[in-house]
This record gives sequence, C-alpha cells and structure tokens, in this order.
Amino acid sequence: MAKTVAEIRNMKDEGRKISMVTSYDFSMAVLAERAGIDFILVGDSLGMTMLGYENTLPVTMDDMVHHTACVTRGARNTVVVGDMPFGSYHASVEDAVRNALRLVKEGGATAIKLEGGVRVAPHIKAIVESSIPVQGHVGMTPQSSNMYGGFKVQGKTADSAKLIVEDALAVQDAGAFSVVIECVPPNLAAYITKLLDIPTIGIGAGAECDGQVLVAQDMLAMNMDFRPRFARHFGQIGQGMIDAYQAYDNEVKAGTFPAEAENYKALDDSIMAQIEQAYPLR
Ligand code: KIV
Repeated sequence: MAKTVAEIRNMKDEGRKISMVTSYDFSMAVLAERAGIDFILVGDSLGMTMLGYENTLPVTMDDMVHHTACVTRGARNTVVVGDMPFGSYHASVEDAVRNALRLVKEGGATAIKLEGGVRVAPHIKAIVESSIPVQGHVGMTPQSSNMYGGFKVQGKTADSAKLIVEDALAVQDAGAFSVVIECVPPNLAAYITKLLDIPTIGIGAGAECDGQVLVAQDMLAMNMDFRPRFARHFGQIGQGMIDAYQAYDNEVKAGTFPAEAENYKALDDSIMAQIEQAYPLR
C-alpha cells in the first residue's frame, strides 16, 4: 500500500502497476489495507452500494465525510481518496475548496477526487493550492449520467475522444497527482496513459492504464443483480454471505447454535439454588 501520493506517482515512473479499490466503512477498509491494496477510494458510488440510491446524484457532503472518516479509521497506513459528491463543487471554486477541506479535516482523507476535465481545471488548481492532492476523473463521469442518458461508454468518435484527451491534459496541467479514466475504448486510454506523466487509473478502460480501480461490491460479487462488463468477480463473497446467513438461520432454528464450547462457564448449582428459591417458577 502507498502512504503518500508521491509514492503513487513514482509507481508510474518505476513501471509498477497500481491497485485501487473502493471502501465505504471501517471493516472493509481494514481488509483492503491488510490485502496490500495500493490506495483506497471512498467513492460516491456509496450512493448505490451503501445507501440504496439508483445513482450517485443524491449523495451529500455529510454522507461523504461520514463514510470517509469510517474508512480512514480502518486504513491508517494507506492513502485514502475522498470523492466530491454531485453539487459539492459545481457552483463555484470556493465551494470546491471548502468541501475538499471538509473531506480532509473531518474525514481524514489524504486526497480528494472530482469528476470532469477542462471545466473543473480551475477547481483542481485551487484545491491543490490549498495543499490537498487531487485525483481527476475523466471519460464516463457518472455524475453526468443524465447528460449521457445513462452510464454509456464515452469517446467512441474522433471528436468525443479528443475532448477526453483535452480533459485528461487539463487535469494534469491543473496539478492533479493521478486521474481515473472510466469506460472509454482501451486504445484511447492506452494513448492517454502514454501522453500523461501522472498515473492513469482505469475502470472499464483496458489493461494499459497505469492502474485499475473497482468498486468493492462489484469485484466481490456482492451485487448479485447486476455486473458491469468490466467488473470481474475476484471472489464470490455475496453467495458466501448468503450461505453463512442460511447456515446460521438453520442452526438457530435447530437449536444447535450456540454449542457448549460457545457458552461462558455455567453458574455453580449452589448459586442456581438461591436463584430458584428467590424466584420460583410459576
Ligand atoms: O465512485 C466511485 O466508486 C468511482 C469509481 C467508479 C472510480 O468514482
């Protein structure tokens, strides 16, 4: 795992691939850190995975601060990036700086992430000038899903691909230490990766990016109703949890849980006799 954003930047120069995964709570963060994941994203995808919304748009700054604080308490030795939710940086550069500061001061984040390129370059510059490392996010940016008409692959034409290159360059020029590239053709992401000095972290963007990020619930097969094309299942934790809950339910109902070994030491008979005398069964 990386303790500083400088270590993450250096991994690109050293030709070492970078792993990132989302976490939203203490126990998942502990496990991600123990696994040696390079850095952790508290994504606004928590709107879907933790809060049950249909998309990320309703997520608030208070939600993000709360979950970022849970994660940073669990992953004390890993860079944690807190995501800026929809509406927290759209109205002004001042909003962006004020809300980025909240993620660091109240959430304990090392860095923040925000979506967009050319449009948010002034916001990124101002946040970096406030001493907060920034990760950009270009390509398919989920907070703009109403503009795309859904979660659709971006950059499929020469014109739209050029806009994504412009966005990635703007993010780098504004001072970001890395950039997420989401749902674009793999050769476009590969080209941007060669063009940029900062690490690219891909999701649905092919293997040539400097690193990869996945939503934990996707890679652990905890979302059993939907699997995005890019979300490989690295474990069957969803089914494993269902199996465990069912086994527990069965044993409770059969009276076989808890077993003798799972009990604390029983009271001496003399003590039980006193209880029975004081409170006779009716
Ligand atoms: O919110 C999130 O989890 C993200 C990743 C998909 C990159 O932004």
